[in-house]
Parts: sequence; structure tokens; C-alpha cells
Amino acid sequence: MPIGIFDSGYGGLTILKEIRERLPQYDYLYLGDNARAPYGARSFDIVYDFTLQAVKALFERGCHLVILACNTASAKALRSIQQNDLPQIDPSRRVLGVIRPTVEIIPQLTSTGHIGLLATRGTVASHSYALELEKSSPEMTITELPCPMWVPLVECNETDTPGADYFVEKYISELLGADPEIDTIVLGCTHYPLLLPNIRKFVPPHIRILPQGEIVAASLEDYLHRHPEIDAKCTKNGTTSFLTTESPDKFDPLAGIFLGSPVASTHISL
Ligand code: DGL
Repeated sequence: MPIGIFDSGYGGLTILKEIRERLPQYDYLYLGDNARAPYGARSFDIVYDFTLQAVKALFERGCHLVILACNTASAKALRSIQQNDLPQIDPSRRVLGVIRPTVEIIPQLTSTGHIGLLATRGTVASHSYALELEKSSPEMTITELPCPMWVPLVECNETDTPGADYFVEKYISELLGADPEIDTIVLGCTHYPLLLPNIRKFVPPHIRILPQGEIVAASLEDYLHRHPEIDAKCTKNGTTSFLTTESPDKFDPLAGIFLGSPVASTHISL
């Protein structure tokens, strides 16, 4: 059965891309809830409802393991789904997110212990990164900043413009102004890797910028090694299928840009 990868829309494709590079042998089923994206400014309850519907849809299509490749969904829905829903739906299935693997790697990377987080309003308001970091590394300081203009810039394919540079510089200088000791910046939103060339222009070279795709891919590989009973349920024919709640005509062209290879999706309703 395929590994399910869920995102509010296109952004999870940046995570899928890295996962497929690291683990090409598995089958994947990607679901983008594009008709209802973006999730970034939606309330806790709505993100939870939408995410649960998506997880159930992926379970119905055979997935035993689902990755929430969306920071907003990981921040607002993962814990409730793991603790309250999975035991009732099917305790043998697993749903994993992107926040914990990212936080786990931070202590290996920072020297100053000062971290910057750039994410959607929803992820920042949930303080999920700060709460996770507090549990594992309470001595560290994290400054969280929402970047509400970055997702629309990416979705409108405006990354290569002076307007994109303006909004990138605005948020980077706000973040570094708030804590000049930051030496590691986490890109806590699936869309932000597509702004990396812009971000690099405004971040001093001694500061590490951390996109999540590779981290999540490495963490998934490790998880499958540690859980052979889940690994055994994942088929390995190297295929990927795509589902979207939008029209495939709209989804496929932009999805191809995020993934870096052609996409042919099928519509579903949640
Ligand atoms: N995928 C979302 C995230 O990583 C960004 C897009 C959205 O707001 O839906 O937070």
C-alpha cells in the first residue's frame, strides 16, 4: 500500500520530492486539498476537521502510514488525530508530521542556541515549534515570525521578481532585528524552499537556513527502519499518484513546478 502524503495544497510536493529522492522504491499517494487551501490563517477547529477528512480519505485508499507534509496541519491537527482519532479508526495505522523531525535536528546545528522560525500565521500562533523545542532543549531561544505574503508569492509564481525580494527582506530583517544572535533559521512552511534564492540574498552567510524536505525524508527512512511492521505494509514499486480537491487542469501545471517533474492528478471530494 502507498505511503500517503497530505498537504493543504502544493507545498507538500517539496517534501514529497525529497522523500522520493531518498526512498525511490516506495509507492506514494499525494493528496492536496487545493480547493480549500491555504490553511495558514484558518482556525484550529477547521484545520483539524479538514486534515482528519484527508487522513480518512488516504486510509480508505489503502495507506497505512500518512505524513502530514504541511506545517499548519502538523501544528493544529496531528496531536488530536494521533491521540483521539487513530485509536478509534485503526490503532495499527500511523500519522506523522513535519515539526518534530525538524525540531529534533536543531541542537546539532546551532552554536548560539538562538533559532528563528519563519512560518504561516497558524503555525506561529500554535507555538508548536516553541513547545517542541522547550521539551527537548529548554535552554534554547526561538523567535517565531509569520510571513503571510510568502505563500501567495510562491502560488502566483512571483518568486523571481523585485516584489518577492521586497517581502523576503522585510521578514528576514524583522526576524534578525528581533534576535541578532540567531544562527539557524527554520523554514517552517512547505512553500518557503521555493524562495530560497531570495532568502539567501538577505541572510548573512554565517546563518544556516533549514528547509525541511531532506530532514523529513531522513526521519521517514529512520522511522521505517525502526518499525519493520509498518515498512512491511508499504508496497515498493516506485510509483506516485496524485489526488487534488481542485480541478486537475488547475493543479497539474503548478504542481509540476513544485515537484520538478510532470504531474497528472485525479480529482476527489472530501
Ligand atoms: N502547507 C502550508 C504549511 O506548510 C502552507 C500553505 C497553507 O497555508 O495552506 O504551513
